[in-house]
Amino acid sequence: MMLAGIILSSLFMINGGRAKRIKEYVQEIAEICPNANSGNFTVQFPGPLNYSMSSNLIKLHGNFTITETIQEPLELIILIDRCALDMKTCEEHNKLTFTNLCRHVNDEKDVVAKFFKNVDPIVRCPIKPGIYKFKNAVFDLSFTLPLPMEGYRWQAKLKLYSRIRPKRELFCVSSLSSMHWVNKP
Ligand SMILES: *[C@@H]1O[C@H](CO)[C@@H](O)[C@H](O)[C@H]1NC(C)=O
Ligand SMILES: *[C@@H]1O[C@H](CO)[C@@H](O)[C@H](O)[C@H]1NC(C)=O
Ligand SMILES: *[C@@H]1O[C@H](CO)[C@@H](O)[C@H](O)[C@H]1NC(C)=O
Repeated sequence: MMLAGIILSSLFMINGGRAKRIKEYVQEIAEICPNANSGNFTVQFPGPLNYSMSSNLIKLHGNFTITETIQEPLELIILIDRCALDMKTCEEHNKLTFTNLCRHVNDEKDVVAKFFKNVDPIVRCPIKPGIYKFKNAVFDLSFTLPLPMEGYRWQAKLKLYSRIRPKRELFCVSSLSSMHWVNKP
């Protein structure tokens, strides 16, 4: 252990003053899903999603409109495809389903609630119709850094549904991301 520590610290010293190689999450695309239903989504954006990215933090800008009350029973489905770097092939990788979303949205200690707290007015269930503005809405994606994402591009779709029959898609965002090594001074 101690030897490892000495080797590590001397490596650090050798590297001292030079650029460090660190892993960074890269959001290549984030957009409203270009599907036939998007004109009817309950969550409407006035244009393309406006976001900026720095040090694994994604920050959203602008506003969106909720056209009718959003309330339980809700369902969030996240579909993840793993693609080759050249995007010539993709394969289904994972499908995650979440329910009881309002419990997270309304729990002040939850990361989801912390994000929605930076929207004006604050997003809480039942989510009322109206115009909402991102204030300092930042989502920390550094939880992805330990994941073995390198060597692929990851295509994800986040789909929000109302489970009241007939089940309806209220919103969908599509994302393309990857993991890069970058030099940091
Ligand atoms: C939107 O929804 C309405 C009512 O549910 C439907 O009549 C209309 O065809 C839909 N429009 C699109 C573009 O899907
Ligand atoms: C995106 O948001 C930034 C920061 O608020 C703003 O300066 C920029 O004009 C916005 N871009 C668009 C296309 O709305
Ligand atoms: C919402 O954003 C659009 C496009 O950036 C802008 O034209 C509009 O004024 C904004 N509305 C409000 C209420 O801020």
